[in-house]
Amino acid sequence: MSGDWCTLSSAANLEIAGEKMPKVTFMPLNKTVEAKVGQTILEVSEDNDLGLEHACGGVCACSTCHVIVLDGTDENLEEAEDDEIDTLDKLCPAQTVHSRLGCQARVKGDVKVEMYNWPPREM
Ligand code: FES
Repeated sequence: MSGDWCTLSSAANLEIAGEKMPKVTFMPLNKTVEAKVGQTILEVSEDNDLGLEHACGGVCACSTCHVIVLDGTDENLEEAEDDEIDTLDKLCPAQTVHSRLGCQARVKGDVKVEMYNWPPREM
């Protein structure tokens, strides 16, 4: 019995160790960076100094972090929650069927996104 447990445990560890990190491509920069599963697009941008706008600080209250998913479509991002959909509907006149808020969209796999508010506005 203990031999079976060791075999399963070793296989699980190998799977975790070999886990592929998702890649996120930011347009129009055409910059591809690695992300951790579960990070938001905004967090990935911040970690790599890519400048995705975030006027409300990432609390789903402004839509300046609007991104349009160009590739990888929505199956590589966690599904949008009601708050994100409401903010897009109320504050994002340029919304498309592939629009997401960068501060809310969590990465599951490779995606390519267009930063709608690029370049960032001067403060
Ligand atoms: S940063 Fe304001 S809604 Fe995302």
